[in-house]
Amino acid sequence: MSTYTLDTGTSRATPTPQPMKRLTVPAIRQRKVDGATAEPIVMLTAYTTRTAQLLDAHCDILLVGDSLGQVIYGLPSTIPVTLEMMANHAAAVVRGSHHAVVVVDMPFGSYEASPQAAFASAAMLLKASGAAAVKLEGGEAMAETVAFLVQRGIPVMGHVGLTPQAVNVLGGYRARGRGKAEARKIVGDAEALADAGAFAIVVEGVLEPIADEVTRAVACPTIGIGASAQCDGQVLVTEDMIGLFERTPRFVKRFGDVAASITQAASAFADEVRTRRFPGADQIYAAPEGS
Ligand code: KIV
Repeated sequence: MSTYTLDTGTSRATPTPQPMKRLTVPAIRQRKVDGATAEPIVMLTAYTTRTAQLLDAHCDILLVGDSLGQVIYGLPSTIPVTLEMMANHAAAVVRGSHHAVVVVDMPFGSYEASPQAAFASAAMLLKASGAAAVKLEGGEAMAETVAFLVQRGIPVMGHVGLTPQAVNVLGGYRARGRGKAEARKIVGDAEALADAGAFAIVVEGVLEPIADEVTRAVACPTIGIGASAQCDGQVLVTEDMIGLFERTPRFVKRFGDVAASITQAASAFADEVRTRRFPGADQIYAAPEGS
């Protein structure tokens, strides 16, 4: 999959009416000046073309998160997600957007072994999708890899705190930074990534004062999820944000009730099919009179 042009030839691929100039990675980095961000960065996850089309005008960054493993594929964690899955969904999101920077997650196992392995995986993702940058999880241990990628033309977003790909080491998805040593490590991890050249850092699932300290400590923007309103931007998984799931994690605010809309529509459809009210006269191709 390597076509970056939006397909306007079908009725379902409605593009943003007036294509906007796409933001760039340096423009995102430059939102934070001397430790302050006047306009917080808006990031949402997107996995499909249609969702990207709907979110694009409202977001600075569309993240093709490996959370698609759970959200789209019903997997138990992000661990089984593959490079091919990420590349295909990232290409779909690029095709559905004109404005936001598209960042694609590097899946578990595609970057940890060495900077060279990370480069091969990241290059594949960007070539196949047209996305502008990759995101990877991990702190100080990943700093060398981040520098290696950035020096070779691949912008990197870091991700510290609760890093879901490390669920088997962490033992679950609890908020991080409850002890002093762990708090210090999270701040040190973010500093190491920023020094290595990360253009932004996701801070996930940490106690608020730690997110605030990280945000003060690094020159690049921080993007919080379950972190702090003082971060330089915020991200949510779109399906959580629109209310597609019954369960609402503590750090999520539901801005819609899409589950109720889908349930209501499916129930009405089923009822009309069973009572032969659908299709109606407007939805069928009647034979021409006299035929
Ligand atoms: O995979 C993902 O969606 C993420 C966000 C929650 C930051 O990493």
